[in-house]
Amino acid sequence: MFLKQIRSYIIAKSYDYAMRSTEKSCLQSWRKELLAQAHGDLLEIGAGTGVNLPHYPDHINRIILSEPDAQMRKQLQRETDQFQQQRLNITPWGADSIEMPDGSFDTIVSTLVLCSVPSLETSLNEIYRLLRPNGILLFLEHVISDHPPTRTWQHRIEPIWGLCAGNCHLTRDTATAILAAGLKIEQLTEAPMTGAPAFVQRTIRGSARKSSDSGKKV
Ligand SMILES: C[S@@+](CC[C@H](N)C(=O)[O-])C[C@H]1O[C@@H](n2cnc3c(N)ncnc32)[C@H](O)[C@@H]1O
Repeated sequence: MFLKQIRSYIIAKSYDYAMRSTEKSCLQSWRKELLAQAHGDLLEIGAGTGVNLPHYPDHINRIILSEPDAQMRKQLQRETDQFQQQRLNITPWGADSIEMPDGSFDTIVSTLVLCSVPSLETSLNEIYRLLRPNGILLFLEHVISDHPPTRTWQHRIEPIWGLCAGNCHLTRDTATAILAAGLKIEQLTEAPMTGAPAFVQRTIRGSARKSSDSGKKV
């Protein structure tokens, strides 16, 4: 328990610094482009230190930032204090148990989070439940490599990587899981996350929509 707290503290304190060069080389511009589509009532899962906040359009109605890690939440609170927006709330919910009614959100955002949730399937089912008919999931995630030797290494180092990097998985096929949850992928861009180690370089980003035919999976 104590070790877990120390690990959380170190990850939260070092996160922005560790990601600095990758943010500059690609993530910042990807976030800006992706999040321009955000609208209405928005939930961000695993909001971390709040790096997406500067990219949200002004016209968003309400923003709920969920972040289950207490240390990350402290960083997030500091970041949101600068925004001083009444329309913004921080919650401690994990992505698999968001305490909101079905169909609460027009937009759900997940950036570099679906690699860390305990069950991809459970979290995506929760996202599906929470989206309104016609609502969108905006995602940016690193995924399993399509290069067989890199893939082999991803499988080998995943257990130890997960311990060091907050339960991050290297071998998830997130696009397939999004489709399996019943969402329709409308935009999908694949690109290497330059500046990151080879085993986390392959990323996907885009949008996936819940059918306007409420309740029925597509
Ligand atoms: C790699 S960081 C990404 C932070 C931020 N979203 C970004 O784009 O930089 C992963 C985040 O997911 C959070 N996380 C871990 N498990 C989670 C879960 N079950 N539900 C929601 N978020 C989770 C972590 O606390 C951390 O803030």
